[in-house]
Amino acid sequence: MSKIKFILNGNAVELDVVPTMRLLDVLRNNLGLTGPKEGCGEGECGACSVLVDHQLVNSCIMPAGNVAGHEVITIEGFNKQSRYKKLADTFARAGAVQCGFCTPGMILAAEALLNEVPHPDEQQIRQAISGNLCRCTGYSMIVKAIKMAAEEGGGLW
Ligand code: FES
Ligand code: FES
Repeated sequence: MSKIKFILNGNAVELDVVPTMRLLDVLRNNLGLTGPKEGCGEGECGACSVLVDHQLVNSCIMPAGNVAGHEVITIEGFNKQSRYKKLADTFARAGAVQCGFCTPGMILAAEALLNEVPHPDEQQIRQAISGNLCRCTGYSMIVKAIKMAAEEGGGLW
């Protein structure tokens, strides 16, 4: 066990964990944040996506010790921000949410993209969500939702 300190959804946290534990398990089991989902468990599906220093990360393959001193944002923290509200709105209007399993990861992938590229083209959007699998929507509604958020987002990004 070691003590790790990081910023989680805007708050400083300090935990005693085995640093090689998966960040996904620490978030879900130690911290009760169930927004990041376990899909493949192998870094292939993006269901477990979180932001670490604003970069999209698969928390199922990241050792918890790696986030010491960094900032982690899960969907539970992001959903308090106006950027989230815009994305949730366009995802709903574009029909980009069906079963919802991929949605937290997709929204964080969209945020990571728009944070760096506020007006992405379709290829950039498809590239940004290429690590996030969706079994339901065929992706085109998700691409549309992200495009709508970029167009309507004004100064949000
Ligand atoms: S559960 Fe982490 S990438 Fe699939
Ligand atoms: S909405 Fe079902 S997996 Fe994407």
